[in-house]
Amino acid sequence: MTAFAHEAAPRPAVLQAQGVTMVFGGLTALNDVSLTLEEGQIVGLIGPNGAGKTTFFNCLTGLYTPTRGRVLLDGSVMPNDPAHVTIAGVARTFQNIRLFPNMTVLENVMVGRHSRMKQDPVSTLLRLPAFKRGEAAARERSRELLEFVGLTRSENEVARNLPYGDQRRLEIARALATDPKVLLLDEPTAGMNPQETEATRQLIFAIRESGVSVVVIEHDIKFIFSLCDRVCVLVQGELLVEGSPEVVRADPRVIEAYLGKPPEEVEAEVREAAAAVEHDKGERS
Ligand SMILES: Nc1ncnc2c1ncn2[C@@H]1O[C@H](COP(=O)(O)OP(=O)(O)OP(=O)(O)O)[C@@H](O)[C@H]1O
Ligand SMILES: [Mg+2]
Repeated sequence: MTAFAHEAAPRPAVLQAQGVTMVFGGLTALNDVSLTLEEGQIVGLIGPNGAGKTTFFNCLTGLYTPTRGRVLLDGSVMPNDPAHVTIAGVARTFQNIRLFPNMTVLENVMVGRHSRMKQDPVSTLLRLPAFKRGEAAARERSRELLEFVGLTRSENEVARNLPYGDQRRLEIARALATDPKVLLLDEPTAGMNPQETEATRQLIFAIRESGVSVVVIEHDIKFIFSLCDRVCVLVQGELLVEGSPEVVRADPRVIEAYLGKPPEEVEAEVREAAAAVEHDKGERS
């Protein structure tokens, strides 16, 4: 019996990156990176600053067209522009938060929702009943999502006035409003205090429970090792190691190239994180 239930049986691949290479001028930011995300998995992507993590997300979401390699969603080649990637079912958040700062919290989520709505220009322009029904449904779904991420009380606040941690959660709600199959989170806990970080970890578990598969970039290894079913380590654009948290944290190459800490220290942090997972499981069952 493995400690991580989601590791047990292979599931269908929802997202596959195959040999993704991204060259900027003379710089190879990604070199032949392959990654498979199975349905219902949470995969972590870690690596030092400049390793290529965000570039990889940009290649997965059509912001960049890889120099070589391809990305498949449910076995089909992903469209190569961000709007079509969203419609295909991949949503993301950004390392540098990208909200509409002068719109309200609710309006920000409704913008995400609009990518899923059938746009009939006549009905929209004339504000016919079909348009109004669509808007009402979008508003209702957006409110549900705000409740899900814990921002109900802030729905009428202007986004730029929210505390930083709430802005990150709002970005997650907006991404979820597009009804994704896959959610890509780029440093979702950056700048958060330990309580907010823990709330975000629980939120990501809940997102997985709702049927969305997740790839998450983070520098906080305790967070990653206690959250993810699989962890991929990117160093200088190359996938150095990938595997279960247990395998990755014990790999001498990871300790040397990335963690940069003595194995005992890494082990102690990870033991603490694993205990937190067991504790959660006890509470959830
Ligand atoms: N549009 C671009 N043009 C040129 N170089 C780029 C571009 N985007 C990224 N790079 C370079 O690619 C490399 C990888 O950057 P990236 O932002 O993907 O790293 P990262 O792993 O996300 O780092 P961090 O942990 O600091 O966010 C860096 O050397 C960066 O300068
Ligand atoms: Mg980055």
